Amino acid sequence: MNLPSFRAWQPFFFSLLVVAVLSAKLLHLFQHARSIPLLRFIIYFPTFFIQDCFLIIVQRLLLHGQTRSVQSTVGLAIGGFLATISLGASAAQYGFYYVTGGELQWDAAGSVASDPAAIRLMLSGIVPVSTAGMAMVLATWPITPVLHNKFGCWLTSVWKLVTPGNWDMLLPVVRTKSDLSHQKIIRLWPLCVLTTICSLTLLQFVRPAVPYDHISATLPVSLSRMLHSKSNNCPAHSLPNGKSFPLPDLLSQDLWIMPHENYKGWAPGQDNFFIQQYMERDRNWIPETLPAGFERWDKKKMLEAENKALTKGGRNKCPDISGTNVYNPVADPLRISNLDLEPYGELREAFKDVLISHVVLVTMESTRKDMFPIKHDSYLHQKILQSYKDDDSDKAQVDEKLSQLTRVAEQVTGESFYNSPGKQPDLLPGVWRDQSAPGMGGINVVGALTGSSLSFKSVLGSHCGVGPLPRDFLEEVNGKIYQPCIPQILELFNNEKNSSGKHQDGKEALRDYRASVHQREWESVFVQSITDRYDRQDELNRHMSFGQSFVRETFEDENNKYYPPKSPEINYFGYAETEVKPFIRDLIADVVAKKKRLFLSHFTSTTHHPWTAPDDFSAVKYMGSEGSHEHMDSFLNVVRYDDLWLGQILGLLDEYGIANETLVVVVGDHGQAFEEDTQLTGTYENGHISNFRVPLVFRHPHLPRLQVSANATSMSILPTILDLLVSTNSLDATDTSAASDLMHDYEAQSLLRPYQTSLNGRQAWNFGVINAGGALLSISSAAVPYRIIIPLSGDFMFRFTNTATDSNELHPLEKWTLMDLARAVRKKHGEEAAKWATEADAIGRWWTKEMHRLYNYNG
Ligand SMILES: *[C@@H]1O[C@H](CO)[C@@H](O)[C@H](O)[C@H]1NC(C)=O
Ligand SMILES: *[C@@H]1O[C@H](CO)[C@@H](O)[C@H](O)[C@H]1NC(C)=O
Ligand SMILES: *[C@@H]1O[C@H](CO)[C@@H](O)[C@H](O)[C@H]1NC(C)=O
Repeated sequence: MNLPSFRAWQPFFFSLLVVAVLSAKLLHLFQHARSIPLLRFIIYFPTFFIQDCFLIIVQRLLLHGQTRSVQSTVGLAIGGFLATISLGASAAQYGFYYVTGGELQWDAAGSVASDPAAIRLMLSGIVPVSTAGMAMVLATWPITPVLHNKFGCWLTSVWKLVTPGNWDMLLPVVRTKSDLSHQKIIRLWPLCVLTTICSLTLLQFVRPAVPYDHISATLPVSLSRMLHSKSNNCPAHSLPNGKSFPLPDLLSQDLWIMPHENYKGWAPGQDNFFIQQYMERDRNWIPETLPAGFERWDKKKMLEAENKALTKGGRNKCPDISGTNVYNPVADPLRISNLDLEPYGELREAFKDVLISHVVLVTMESTRKDMFPIKHDSYLHQKILQSYKDDDSDKAQVDEKLSQLTRVAEQVTGESFYNSPGKQPDLLPGVWRDQSAPGMGGINVVGALTGSSLSFKSVLGSHCGVGPLPRDFLEEVNGKIYQPCIPQILELFNNEKNSSGKHQDGKEALRDYRASVHQREWESVFVQSITDRYDRQDELNRHMSFGQSFVRETFEDENNKYYPPKSPEINYFGYAETEVKPFIRDLIADVVAKKKRLFLSHFTSTTHHPWTAPDDFSAVKYMGSEGSHEHMDSFLNVVRYDDLWLGQILGLLDEYGIANETLVVVVGDHGQAFEEDTQLTGTYENGHISNFRVPLVFRHPHLPRLQVSANATSMSILPTILDLLVSTNSLDATDTSAASDLMHDYEAQSLLRPYQTSLNGRQAWNFGVINAGGALLSISSAAVPYRIIIPLSGDFMFRFTNTATDSNELHPLEKWTLMDLARAVRKKHGEEAAKWATEADAIGRWWTKEMHRLYNYNG
């Protein structure tokens, strides 16, 4: 028997827990201290530790026994467990803070833990986490015996006090009998104890729940949220979506818009004739069997689903409403259509010379608008210059380096590093060169924002024209994507197509050629050089009905033609982009040979954290030595890498002669905040604007170059693609009527036509969920420059910015309650801005519920 070691563990576990819990609390308080008015922080300060004290007492009792009895062994086991997980969690908090400057949310971390790819991501922070853990263990060592014994003594004395017979010790006044003269002794400490307990209890009860409950939570308590994610009551699924709209005046009947042609009308509010008529509309393009995604156009299926829901729904449990809530554009209070406006004049003239046989949608990981391309005198450019000491000899070369950083982006967008074209340097050898005629190239959108700073929620928006589900991670796969996605629409178009049929011979006039393209079959392929097992992306791709996926797992499979990978892994998700080039090349060759139409969706990944470029890619030093800018420097290098890679893809289109009939859509999945932008870096629970501004380009060599200013989101991509296919006569008659009809079923506006920022007092709202998805919502509107971040759970602050006066959000207003925020906004930006903030909050909360309803999500 090794008794001493048993006895030694007790004090150790006890002080380990104390150190872990208290240091986590200190970090937690430090992160929140500035968010609370000083006076309140001081007053409520003691209450922040109530839970911790309680936990520490419990731990001491658990580690009490002296002998090896069953109780003390069990106590030691539980105590040891508590101490170990607290140490781990506390170290993780510190590591996370060190890496991102943010706070780890345990309920989100819970879903990560069950996901191997996510764990690899977390492991990238292993060094700071272990360092923090180590430091805590070291700090524990010297204080161990003293702490354990002292605390034990205190507990014993307290215990004695509360044992009946000793209650008189609590009295402030005692008669001491030993003295002859029945002297009264005044004892102060019981008074103090009583006052403290009373005032703590009082404070605990009077302090507001938000934010103080979050701030006071002790580590194991917040950790336990990993186990049970927030469960909802039954969402108000059956409510027609207009009923609970916070601004009912904007929906009044005199503002309704009558249906005409393909426009389905707009009449939100109560269930009404127009709303019902939408469901009963006859659509001449509907085939025998509809592809996945089109359930709501299938009247028989809808009826069945509704009946099932009615019979199944019990009184007390949530009714099974799967599939019964659908998007209805007539009933959508937020919908503003611009399809009644003519497309831009320059485009209209060009449409007849444009043919779109293929669509390539490139989603660029973490690509910020201000780096697509990077521009002289931009905020970022200034930050780069500031990183140089004045006497730094490298400073003279920095502009030259930067002017070559994003040359492909320059050619794709028509924007450039230098304002005057004369100053632009020549392209370096090997960089893709645009073959289109001068003044041609397509639509470059300035002002676009992502709908989600979680990558694949953003992909969902661009591929399906839907908003994200405001839930942590890809919970969309547990609901129903509420609109048909691009591959599903193409599947619809494939009805009665036969690529191997007519029009076999090569020499055709363009008119005949066009007609033959109309008869071709579409093929939808998804390609990325990284894993698709992270956060159920493979499932999401299946939900979007991609015919084929080419991902890390494909070319790591021994039986695959492209096995083995030709280069080493470069980050925790997978390989460098070039790993998929042979596949894309063969795919294009195949599609051209088989006379098919290609929809290629490619997701880049090298620009993801930790921003490692392949070894053979020569790094350039962009940042100076003033301060630490390693992250930005690595990032600029991978940005250049992916810029060149985009050029390689465009080069493949040139090589196979399909560039002039391919629409290339380039969009950033989200931005990326760095130390140069804001204290809190990364996308996780970070609402900063640099995570939201993304490039958005619709490139076609036969479309004139057009710069469009619009605060649109990537949700506009799908309707714009449909609009382009129809406007350029790239579809046959049936598909044209289907596409013209479907365009009106999506929420977002088409970017071929002037963007409607408001209509009849209604604003064109943009919502952006913030990685991981369920805690914070970013709300802006194309009609005003304001932006607000609202917490959807109580653990975050409200945040307001005015991008007109503070374009890079250097001075946000942050408050714990909407009322405090509105007051501060009123003071700084005026009454109108304050009113907007309050409305935006209400609209955002309504939208959150609405998204749950539309996804038929019962989480
Ligand atoms: C809105 O678009 C304009 C360009 O039209 C852009 O300057 C502005 O930054 C955008 N707003 C936001 C919040 O990004
Ligand atoms: C397509 O056309 C080819 C040649 O005309 C024919 O052999 C084939 O059966 C057709 N396939 C379909 C699905 O109609
Ligand atoms: C595109 O270019 C190729 C080769 O340069 C040419 O044969 C083809 O007709 C062009 N297509 C269109 C739609 O202009």
